[in-house]
Amino acid sequence: MKVTVRTRASSHEIECAPRERILYAALRAGVGVPYECATGSCGTCKARARPGTVEDVWPQAPGHEYLKRERGEFLMCQGVALGDCEILVPSRMGAEFCAASGPRHVAGTLSEVRSLTHDVDAFSVELDGPITFDAGQFVVLAAPGLAGYRAYSMVNEAAETSRLDFIVKRKAGGGFSGWLQAKRAGSTIDVFGPLGKATWRPEEGKDLLCIAGGSGIAGMMSILSHALSSGHFKRHRGDVFFGVRAREDVFFTDELARLVQAAGGRLSVTVAYSEEPVMDRDPRIPGCIDVSHGFVHLVAGERMAGAWGDPTAFVAGPPPMVDGALRMLVMEARLPASDIRYDKFT
Ligand SMILES: Cc1cc2nc3c(=O)[nH]c(=O)nc-3n(C[C@H](O)[C@H](O)[C@H](O)COP(=O)(O)OP(=O)(O)OC[C@H]3O[C@@H](n4cnc5c(N)ncnc54)[C@H](O)[C@@H]3O)c2cc1C
Ligand code: FES
Repeated sequence: MKVTVRTRASSHEIECAPRERILYAALRAGVGVPYECATGSCGTCKARARPGTVEDVWPQAPGHEYLKRERGEFLMCQGVALGDCEILVPSRMGAEFCAASGPRHVAGTLSEVRSLTHDVDAFSVELDGPITFDAGQFVVLAAPGLAGYRAYSMVNEAAETSRLDFIVKRKAGGGFSGWLQAKRAGSTIDVFGPLGKATWRPEEGKDLLCIAGGSGIAGMMSILSHALSSGHFKRHRGDVFFGVRAREDVFFTDELARLVQAAGGRLSVTVAYSEEPVMDRDPRIPGCIDVSHGFVHLVAGERMAGAWGDPTAFVAGPPPMVDGALRMLVMEARLPASDIRYDKFT
């Protein structure tokens, strides 16, 4: 089906596969339509269509609260074209990207699921063909028999790769996290990506500040590995704040310790427990990692106060934590919006 994507300044004709989300078809064609979560929560991808031309495949999506339905608004990430049609995108379009490195659909096979904590699993997907992604990006995954796509940030170092590593926090009653618990290795998954703008490239040449809540550490691992292998810590420093509720929730400490040791004194990592005071040293946490008590963004604020410098800041995790961190980075650290990148794990 042909969909004409119009803005006030431009018009693009894209081809949508049957039942393909209009957002994914547009991004696949290199059209820089606005989006953030790509999975129905944030409302960023709203557009307008004539009645009866676009089907809303998830009418309960939380992102609907940002729409004016009486004006024909719908979410491109939950909209499929019912025939050739035209849509109007009210927000400004981003720069178009080269379709070769842009997102596409790839079939993947779930290859490995293992527990990291009592409620966090790691899993990997082997792709039928390689994709290239930037550190900090995510993909959306659709599992067989489960309605809709879920977004997950890549943990592995950015590269051209046929294997993607992820972590997922189990959610009570959660569709994908529940599906994964049955450890369905060998299942075929539809992968669409890479997506997301909370990315880092070595040529940025600035210090790094990472504030992660729980599974928000996923994309930071990719950024830190890439920073290390590209020699970034020879000239710049990095400060990482990783928030969990209590000591039983912490993971990736050995991997973080290896990064700290390899960065030759230019990388600091602080784990913050929000619900447990730090009474004694946890022997499972290597000595090169600091441990503190409090909400992770507040701990970051205390530790960085007066020494914010001019970093590129990354924030990821639960939305209230991300909102708190963003307020702090704007009001206290006075960082410009262009130096603050975030993903809300909705
Ligand atoms: C950019 C981004 C990156 C993320 N990265 C990670 C990560 O690395 N690790 C991690 O643990 N979590 C991550 N998340 C959160 C993750 O996408 C899931 O929301 C979370 O794992 C819960 O999924 P679930 O299926 O278990 O729960 P559910 O409650 O079943 O689903 C949660 C989400 O799935 C989608 N969804 C649910 N039902 C439908 C439906 N019927 N049709 C269409 N869509 C539906 C919606 O987006 C919903 O918010 C990320 C989120 C975003 C936006
Ligand atoms: S991008 Fe569609 S609701 Fe977030």
